[in-house]
Amino acid sequence: MTTSQTPAPLKGSSYWDARFQEQGFAYGEEPNDFLLSCAPRLTRGKALSLGEGEGRNAVYLAKLGFEVTAVDFSEVGLQKAQALAQQHGVQIQCICADLKDFDMSHESWHLVVSVFSQPESAVRQRLYGQLSQSLHPGGAFVLESKVGADPSGKERYPGLNVLRQEIGPLHLIHAREEERVLSEGRYHQGPQRTAQIWAQRN
Ligand SMILES: C[S@@+](CC[C@H](N)C(=O)[O-])C[C@H]1O[C@@H](n2cnc3c(N)ncnc32)[C@H](O)[C@@H]1O
Repeated sequence: MTTSQTPAPLKGSSYWDARFQEQGFAYGEEPNDFLLSCAPRLTRGKALSLGEGEGRNAVYLAKLGFEVTAVDFSEVGLQKAQALAQQHGVQIQCICADLKDFDMSHESWHLVVSVFSQPESAVRQRLYGQLSQSLHPGGAFVLESKVGADPSGKERYPGLNVLRQEIGPLHLIHAREEERVLSEGRYHQGPQRTAQIWAQRN
């Protein structure tokens, strides 16, 4: 007998547009707390945020003095990100693009951030594989992502071991997988297994 596993549903840009059309900020207006904890030791410069959504992390980084580029395929999310930046008196550059087509190697980034962007594995492997070239020497990669509870979700919600392989030869400053309590807007509330990586190009 063969068993089949149902793949995690694809969530295209219209799914995210619909979520971001709701009132308020789906993940809050405050930055992700793991990013916040890394920030004091991050070298200022050009920052790229992958799957930025409604702008909470991009605006936070811009307020710290980073020159921020935010990429997302949700027009609605990026419009809210621009409005949030304006409200805080900072500028961010927004690029509406699917990460599957996005090339980050045209620039030398001091920081690349991926907070709950959860692209599928082929996209992650290509993008995270570019990190060792597209990060400036000494530049950092900061990631937090959900870890799937069941094997069918591993493609989009992989554990730390998979992610560590995908980022290639970066120097790990912090790498942890744990069950923790999220409190970020309406959609990230309660216990969640996550992977956190803070890594640096030598
Ligand atoms: C869970 S939300 C997280 C948003 C934001 N990083 C945060 O933490 O507030 C996932 C985000 O990734 C974006 N995203 C997912 N897949 C993407 C893809 N293939 N290309 C571009 N953006 C994508 C979605 O539009 C959404 O904004």
